[in-house]
This record gives sequence, structure tokens and C-alpha cells, in this order.
Amino acid sequence: MTGDASGTGIDSTVPHSARIWNYWLGGKDNYAVDRLAGEQTIAVLPEIVDIARASRGFLTRVVRYLAADAGIRQFLDVGTGLPTADNTHEVAQRVAPDARVVYVDNDPLVLTHARALLTGSAEGATDYIEADARDVDTILHGAAATLDFTRPVAITMLGILPFISDDEEARGIVRRLLAAVPAGSYLAITHSTSEASGERVIEAVRQWNAVAPTPYTLRSPAQIAVFFEGLELIEPGLVPCPRWRPDPDDGDSARDMDEYCALGRT
Ligand SMILES: C[S@@+](CC[C@H](N)C(=O)[O-])C[C@H]1O[C@@H](n2cnc3c(N)ncnc32)[C@H](O)[C@@H]1O
Repeated sequence: MTGDASGTGIDSTVPHSARIWNYWLGGKDNYAVDRLAGEQTIAVLPEIVDIARASRGFLTRVVRYLAADAGIRQFLDVGTGLPTADNTHEVAQRVAPDARVVYVDNDPLVLTHARALLTGSAEGATDYIEADARDVDTILHGAAATLDFTRPVAITMLGILPFISDDEEARGIVRRLLAAVPAGSYLAITHSTSEASGERVIEAVRQWNAVAPTPYTLRSPAQIAVFFEGLELIEPGLVPCPRWRPDPDDGDSARDMDEYCALGRT
């Protein structure tokens, strides 16, 4: 992204987490301040770029699995992020043009880009709700305009739960969303850990939290597993993202990574 953001209400002088994530993903929706902040994290944790891309790789594979193998036609994507290649509706509608997708994010910058998320197939539907994940009632009420909550829904919470630091609050959000969907629905999560990089990732998060408005929280695999309590985990269970049903040309899919993922079925 280049040029002056004046008049847009978007501050291009302060680094912004969604734009930094976009920078790590190789996107263009970022400013010099974001690239500088992104490079500062890379200096401490060079694998962050691989982490961001592997996390999006999981999105592609899990949404494709849900649409193609599990027959899911409805998706609730909480913590959408800036549009990039292979957004949830694009992956789902490639398999099933009638797939219906509701995006949720609380970031005003994501809202300004949401138009790119609302260009789905004629047979399907996409919608965007600006809401905080904590505001489950608003999300469910808004999503009901597009999704039929008597039929299975896949809830995807990719990279968002680290922004809800309080364990009980995070679990409560997940529980309330799951309570709204019928049997045969799914929950997909990606979440950062410190299993692989230890002190380095902890230091990167410490630096991040020193400047970021919303603190970021790492959780252990055992803490992440709690989000799936009562659900049947789909093989291979809770694993580093590269290990979740890799595509044949995915490269070293056995590698460790501080981004775990899982898919559970209600
Ligand atoms: C790391 S990005 C992940 C984006 C995308 N899901 C992906 O996996 O590439 C996390 C997203 O969650 C959003 N987010 C963080 N806290 C949130 C909250 N309390 N309510 C709604 N969205 C939130 C951020 O604005 C950001 O877009």
C-alpha cells in the first residue's frame, strides 16, 4: 500500500497488527511503519513469515476439507483479517458454489476492505459483520440473516483467540458459538504456542505487547485442546499447522511450528 491515507480515518503512522500480518503474508496492504514493525519481529523470530503462511495454508486445506469431504455449506469466519489470496468464501465456493460465508472482525481497517470479501458466487452468499468476538449475541443475530442455524455450520477462529487473553473468556466465547449450531457442525482453530521456539517466541510476543493495543497470548497445546472439549477431533488432531493434512507439494510438512491447529466436530 502506498500513498496518503489522510481522510480515510486510517492512521498510517502507527503500526497495525492486521497490516503487519498482511506484510508477513506477502500482501500489499501495509505501510512503511508496518513493514518496520514486521521486520523487528522477524529479527527475533525469523520463522514468523513461515508461521503466517502455514496458518493461511491450514485455512485453505481445512475449508476445502469441510466443503469437499464433510459436505459443509455454511461458514462463520470469526477474526477474518485483511482479504488476501484464498479467502474462506473463495476456497469454499470453488468446491461448492452455493456455500454461504459470514465474516466477523472488530477491526475498522478490515471493514474498509470488506468489499473484497463480498464478491462471492451468484449461487452462494457472503456477508460481513463488524463485531467483537465477545459480542456473541450480535454475531449470531447478524449471521442468522445469511446462515441457517438449524443446519451444520463450520466456525473458523483462525489466529483470533490469542487476542482474547483471559482463558475463561476465550472458552466462553467458543462455548456460546458452539451452543448455537446443531450436531454435525465444526470448529477450526489456529493458535500460537511456544513449544518449538521457546524463549524467542516469548520475547517476540513481549516486544509486540509493548506497543500493540491488544495484548497477544500464547497458549500450550493442552490449553488449546480445552477449546475442543466435547468435540470429536478430526485426524490428525491438534498439530503444528504444516502437519494437518498437507498437500503433496507442501514441502517439509513434518516440521515443528509454534502455530497449532485442529478441527473438531460437534
Ligand atoms: C492474526 S489475524 C488472522 C486473520 C485470518 N483469520 C488468518 O488466519 O489469516 C487475527 C484477526 O482477528 C481479529 N480480532 C482480534 N481480536 C478480535 C476480537 N476481539 N473480535 C473480533 N476480531 C478480532 C483481528 O482484527 C485480525 O483481523
